[in-house]
Amino acid sequence: MAESAVPPDDDLRRVPDTFTLPDWPRNCWYAAAYDVELKRQLLPRRIAAHNLVMYRRASGEPVALEDACWHRLMPLSKGNIEGDNVQCGYHGLVFNPEGRCVFMPSQKTINPAARVRSYPVVERHRFVWVWPGDPAVADPHLVPDLHWNDDPEWAGDGDLIHLKCGYKLIVDNLMDLTHETFVHQSSIGQRSIAEVPFEVTHGPNSATVTRWMENVEAPPFWRMQFEWKRGEPPGKVDRWQIIQFQAPSTIAIDVGIAPAGTGARQGDRSQGVSGFVLNTMTPETESSCHYFWAFVRDYNLTDQRITTLLRKGVAGVFAEDEEVLAAQQQAVEAHPDKQFYNLNIDSGAMWARRLTDKMIAGEAHDVRYERSAAEAHELDGSTTRVEATEADARRLGVA
Ligand code: FES
Ligand SMILES: [Fe+2]
Repeated sequence: MAESAVPPDDDLRRVPDTFTLPDWPRNCWYAAAYDVELKRQLLPRRIAAHNLVMYRRASGEPVALEDACWHRLMPLSKGNIEGDNVQCGYHGLVFNPEGRCVFMPSQKTINPAARVRSYPVVERHRFVWVWPGDPAVADPHLVPDLHWNDDPEWAGDGDLIHLKCGYKLIVDNLMDLTHETFVHQSSIGQRSIAEVPFEVTHGPNSATVTRWMENVEAPPFWRMQFEWKRGEPPGKVDRWQIIQFQAPSTIAIDVGIAPAGTGARQGDRSQGVSGFVLNTMTPETESSCHYFWAFVRDYNLTDQRITTLLRKGVAGVFAEDEEVLAAQQQAVEAHPDKQFYNLNIDSGAMWARRLTDKMIAGEAHDVRYERSAAEAHELDGSTTRVEATEADARRLGVA
């Protein structure tokens, strides 16, 4: 491999971006893999409509390249890792982690245009993040905050699910936990969720939905955890769900219970059990996404049995959502002439959509996103409080 024949580094931004107006922003970080998935092996994955091949350098640093050889478009993921480089499995061209071709068979000089796109990549909070947009503005400070996932004060684990729905449907789902009452009756659902008021606040690129259920029975999932920590079942509890959205598709949900009236709402959660449901969704296509999640807890940190049981428990809860979401996506596609209606319970999801649409509108002109962005501007600074009605109470039998 003649190093001298390697062409000088030219501007990667000149690599044309071939897809048109997607339903997601491009200039942001998306989780592309769990840390443990990425090895000294070639991992193909479609991220925000870009086909990527990812691997680790000998030093462990992650690399993300376009998964199509410059020569005849053979997927590089079908080739081999050679040192820090990847060799195409068809005619043997070798590309370095920056995407430049550093070897061509039977050629004295390497064509300086021979390159594949290389994507900015950062490993943080147990995820490998890639930036599908303009590399010149890829700022590692903008990686979504999911620090609980590798914070020594928290323990847990998670998984990656491939979902047959657009990523916005799962954002809607997580921003509205009213659905727990109906979709997750046997685990985390309880009538009081739909019965108590919640509040929605927002910042320039974040939104928060806060719901406190005071003096209620603990649902099975939480009763079990309370017993693991305290060795006895809880009586009446104060339960919280604080959903923190970071545009465009990351949601950290602060959840837990504490014995009723012990000051959890005022900030003292020491007598209860706390957890975070960490979620980040990466669009794959318009109608599918990669859903990365984890559940972490703040008690019995070294107990691997609890970690495994909770991971299985939460996976079971998400399996219930999976079915709903896939059915919803199919119905969306079957009724292209129809639109969604928004209820009070959708206030959190509405903010998530407005903030994401604002990002998309900043990157491409499209009236749909511009309208939504204008709405975000108009409603800026507002707080929404959503109350349950007497009819809710009657229907749910809690009147
Ligand atoms: S297609 Fe990759 S070397 Fe020919
Ligand atoms: Fe759910």
